[in-house]
Amino acid sequence: MKAVILVGGFGTRLRPLTLTTPKQMLPVVGRPMIERVVAGLARHGVTEAVLALGYRPDQFSDAYPDGTIAGVEMHYAVEPEPLDTAGAIAFAAREAGFENETVIAVNGDILTDQDLTALLELHRSAGAEGTIALSPVDDPSRFGVVPIDADGRVEAFIEKPPKDEAPTNWINAGTYVLEPAALARVEAGRKVSIERETFPAMVAEGVLFAKQLDGYWVDAGKPDAYFEVALDYTNGVRGEEPAVSDAATVAADATLVDTIVEAGATVGAGCSLTRTMIQAGATVEHGCTLTDVIVARGSTVGAGCDLTTVVVGEDQWVTPGATASNMNLPEIPKHIK
Ligand code: GTP
Repeated sequence: MKAVILVGGFGTRLRPLTLTTPKQMLPVVGRPMIERVVAGLARHGVTEAVLALGYRPDQFSDAYPDGTIAGVEMHYAVEPEPLDTAGAIAFAAREAGFENETVIAVNGDILTDQDLTALLELHRSAGAEGTIALSPVDDPSRFGVVPIDADGRVEAFIEKPPKDEAPTNWINAGTYVLEPAALARVEAGRKVSIERETFPAMVAEGVLFAKQLDGYWVDAGKPDAYFEVALDYTNGVRGEEPAVSDAATVAADATLVDTIVEAGATVGAGCSLTRTMIQAGATVEHGCTLTDVIVARGSTVGAGCDLTTVVVGEDQWVTPGATASNMNLPEIPKHIK
């Protein structure tokens, strides 16, 4: 099975972390997010995949010089300009020579245990041109909402409806099975959104199907969700990996609650860290209280800081004794908002 993985977005909601590192190269308990995503695809029979790259593509190819991730053979397709979701999928599929194959296409920032094998089964038995994995959410208003009939045929594709107008709470989970005919709909060389253009056209022709799939599903595109997916690999939800790396240095009297400390990071004496991620090589000096904080690699939080809901980007220095809440460091420059 072949897959196309979308990893070319700017990841604006995860700035400042993504000012230097593309979202899917951010660490999820010591391993880049892309490795977790590819490992999930490999479990359902994917042996070859293409990364649809745009923003900071070299970080991916440099990290995997032998051309494999989690045992899956990788191709790298760099768009000349952002082509949006369908444009990027079709471009990458053509670059990798997948255009005449059935492909699985996924958003590279979704961490999920959904049963892709069941999705493929419906796709094949229905003779679908495209099949979407659906996930249930409490508030569908931020997503593409997808009502289906008893056979699984998509009745409508409603992008971001007002909460009380959504006909169902099953939303587009960002995983698709696509036939060559679906890829062929996408005109080369221009921006095309799969959600706003390709899927509505397929619905109108009755060739788009979808399957409701329970199971773990988190879109890691925002800081709180990114933290949650990482924590879930340590707290038994998806794994029991050590939250504090053996190669980290943590003072004996530091208190850590639901906190991840990666290799080479240092946490000083008397610190109290709650729901916090200290990335590789970052330092938190003594006497700090951090709650809902992410400190990116190479940064230092000076002694005695009190930070709540703060994201510290790469290579920053937070002045000793600083108190801050609800902010990004550095602040995001206005010209790139
Ligand atoms: P935000 O700016 O925070 O919304 O993040 P994003 O840029 O990643 O956008 P979004 O989360 O909506 O994108 C969903 C998936 O598609 C992510 O895996 C992105 O990397 C990817 N993506 C979005 N736009 C493009 C594009 O134009 N080209 C490519 N190759 N990938 C894209």
